[in-house]
Amino acid sequence: MNICKTIIEVRDVLQGIRSEGKSIGFVPTMGALHQGHLSLIQASKENCDFTIASIFVNPTQFNNPEDLKNYPKTLDEDVEKLIGAECDVLFLPDGQEIYPSKPQLKISFDGIADQLEGEFRPGHFDGVALVVSKLFNIIQPNHAFFGQKDLQQFFIVKSLVDQLNYPIQLNMVSTARESNGLAMSSRNMRLSAAERSDAALLHQSLRMAQERLLQGGNIKLVKEEVQELFDVSERLALEYFEIINTDDFKTTDATKEKKKVALCIAANIGQVRLIDNLMLIS
Ligand code: PAF
Repeated sequence: MNICKTIIEVRDVLQGIRSEGKSIGFVPTMGALHQGHLSLIQASKENCDFTIASIFVNPTQFNNPEDLKNYPKTLDEDVEKLIGAECDVLFLPDGQEIYPSKPQLKISFDGIADQLEGEFRPGHFDGVALVVSKLFNIIQPNHAFFGQKDLQQFFIVKSLVDQLNYPIQLNMVSTARESNGLAMSSRNMRLSAAERSDAALLHQSLRMAQERLLQGGNIKLVKEEVQELFDVSERLALEYFEIINTDDFKTTDATKEKKKVALCIAANIGQVRLIDNLMLIS
C-alpha cells in the first residue's frame, strides 16, 4: 500500500490511475479503524478499480477540545488493517497540509443540520462539510463510501455533493455491529468491558422502538419508554431519541413515507458519547 502524505504526491498517483481509465473509490476516516471502516473499504473494492482511504483527525469538526484530545489514535494498527484489506493508497496528511492557514471559508447548512447532532454539537457539520469538500477536491473520486452509523453526516455530505455539483457517487454502507448489537465506533475503544456491555442499550432501545412503531404504537409513549430504559441504567445518560424524516432531519409522526423514517439516538457513557440509528423499514 502506497502512503501519500502530501497533496502533490496523492494527486500524482491518482492522475496515473485515472489515465488508465480506472475508477477510484474513496473512504475518508479519522483513523482508529475498526470492522465498520473495513466494510467501507470492502464496498469500495467491490465497486471500484482502485481504493484510497484517508486518515485525518479533523480539528474543525470537534466542538469540544477534550473530545479532540481524547480521540483514539492507532496509526500503526490502522496501516496494518488497511494493508490486510488490500487498500491501494492511504492519504495521511498532517494539519498543515489540509489547513495551511486558518480557514476563512465556512460551509454551513440550514435546516438539515439544525437538529440532533447539529443541535448537540454546534459547528460540527460545518467542519465535516469543509474537510469533506477539501478531500473531495484533492482526491476527486468517482465513488465515496460512508457508514450508516453517521446517518445525518451522510445526508449532509449528500447535500454538499448535490449543491456543489461534485461528480461523485455516494454510497451508504450498513452499520457494523458488535455481537451485542453495539454499533462499531472508534470511540468504543475508550469504553471499559462493563461500559461496552451496557452500551448495547442504544441498539436494544432502537429495536424496541422500531417494533412498537411498526405495530402502530404512539410516538409519545414510545419515546417515554426509551427514556425509562435509560433512567434505570446506571451508566448511560440519554441525550436524545428522535424519530425523523431523512429529507430534512426534522421530527415526524412516522405515519407517512415510512421508508424515509429513521430512529436516531445519542447517549453518554462516562466521558464517551455514542450515537446509533435504525431506519424504520430497512
Ligand atoms: O466520519 C468520519 O470519520 C469523519 O466525520 C469524516 C467523514 C472522515 C470527516 O472528517
